Amino acid sequence: MEKLNIGIILGSTRQGRVSPQVGNWLKDIADKRGDANYEIVDLADFKLSFLGEGTGEEPALTAWTDKLSSLDGFVFVAAEYNHSITGVLKNALDSARDQWHNKAAGIVSYGSTGGARAAEHLRGILGELEVADVRVHPTLSLFTDFENFSTFKPAELHLTNVNLMLDQVVAWSGALKTLR
Ligand SMILES: Cc1cc2nc3c(=O)[nH]c(=O)nc-3n(C[C@H](O)[C@H](O)[C@H](O)COP(=O)(O)O)c2cc1C
Repeated sequence: MEKLNIGIILGSTRQGRVSPQVGNWLKDIADKRGDANYEIVDLADFKLSFLGEGTGEEPALTAWTDKLSSLDGFVFVAAEYNHSITGVLKNALDSARDQWHNKAAGIVSYGSTGGARAAEHLRGILGELEVADVRVHPTLSLFTDFENFSTFKPAELHLTNVNLMLDQVVAWSGALKTLR
């Protein structure tokens, strides 16, 4: 059977962001499993216009929707900004519709309280987009998993949760593929 394609979506684009460190750590763990094709999907590479401000046919938007179409499931790397997800991630979520449907997702969040508030907002949005979000949710603390809030040094204990989350993402992504 063909392997599933799972995108690890970096949900922040600001200068000095930490999401690439978190995404690369996740990809290393995921690649060792050998159970799916995992790839980093960096929102900074797409440079999407704000929804409604482009023509609707601009190459960046087509590249984004094509990328989503190629994926069976997602892992969102979600930073917490003002108790929610980042604006750039919300815009990227809003900028596609059918391409999200009947797929699965895990969330890895970070912030002062593990990004929990951002993750809970994200779950609500995913429901509307018909993305099945899995239960296991690794939460990374800016205080204990980062040095100086900028250098990622994850505690060992997260490894178990990341693998449990990926178990669920792979299982549900495979199951939902049969609906598409
Ligand atoms: C505009 C802004 C708002 C933020 N608001 C929160 C917040 O409400 N709660 C929190 O835990 N951290 C908050 N933070 C801290 C971020 O979680 C932290 O800077 C994190 O590194 C951001 O992710 P990034 O480096 O990938 O951009 C905020 C950061 C920014 C830039």
